[in-house]
Amino acid sequence: MDGATLTTAKTVNVILLGPPGAGKGTQARMLEEKFGLVQLSTGDLLRAAVAAGTEAGKEAKAVMESGGLVSDEIVLAILKDRLAEDDVKAGVILDGFPRTTAQAEALDEMLAASDQGIDAAISLAVDDEAMVERISGRFTCGSCGEGYHDTFKKPAIAGTCDKCGGTDMKRRADDNAETVRERLKAYHAQTAPLITYYDKKRSLTEINAMAAIDEVASSLETIVKRVLG
Ligand code: AP5
Repeated sequence: MDGATLTTAKTVNVILLGPPGAGKGTQARMLEEKFGLVQLSTGDLLRAAVAAGTEAGKEAKAVMESGGLVSDEIVLAILKDRLAEDDVKAGVILDGFPRTTAQAEALDEMLAASDQGIDAAISLAVDDEAMVERISGRFTCGSCGEGYHDTFKKPAIAGTCDKCGGTDMKRRADDNAETVRERLKAYHAQTAPLITYYDKKRSLTEINAMAAIDEVASSLETIVKRVLG
């Protein structure tokens, strides 16, 4: 990675599929910087709704704490609002969406309405067992959202964000071993079938996301460059 941002000449929509801890957020932020696409994380949108105390946020809170999936109705309403904003017109990297077949079908419809589609659905393949360690060691800069890990991605100066210098590091309420197991169950029952859904549409690529962060980033970069043409 040379750190330069490449500008996109056409609209490109990429989906990152994978269980909790697969690295969707980490990689989406790297692709955002590299290609000028916008990371769109339904988990982040839902956490913002919970923090703002909206009706949707109140409903979502307990479900998220249990490790289950928030209703399609709430998630789709939040996503639709976000997709209507100007900054996503050049394309998005969808992180954590879609998570059910109903969401995938609704997304196809929403994109088709503006003559768009999914350019690549990338499945981040990992071992479930390793995900509990990845997630329990995760923390995030409260100021800019940069993600870190106690072992795999430490900031250069302990407790200080490499990116913005912030010192308010946060850990997520649902990042405990018990909830992670429930989130993994929800992934296998409701989200993993989307691998077949996108494979049938010939838009799926699977990559080994057990590799080091930079190696995974390099595999993703190759795919996005190919899509950009
Ligand atoms: P969400 O926020 O989407 O969480 P998630 O899918 O469980 O994914 P995570 O954010 O935990 O993991 P990640 O893959 O982004 O990994 P990360 O890059 O941080 O959803 C939370 C909840 O919201 C859901 O449980 C559900 O209730 C609800 N929700 C959200 N979207 C929904 C939807 N569409 N429908 C219904 N409900 C929805 O990496 C993890 C850690 O590992 C980091 O510390 C990182 O530094 C490290 N790491 C990353 N890659 C590597 C690597 N290659 N090697 C070593 N370490 C690595």
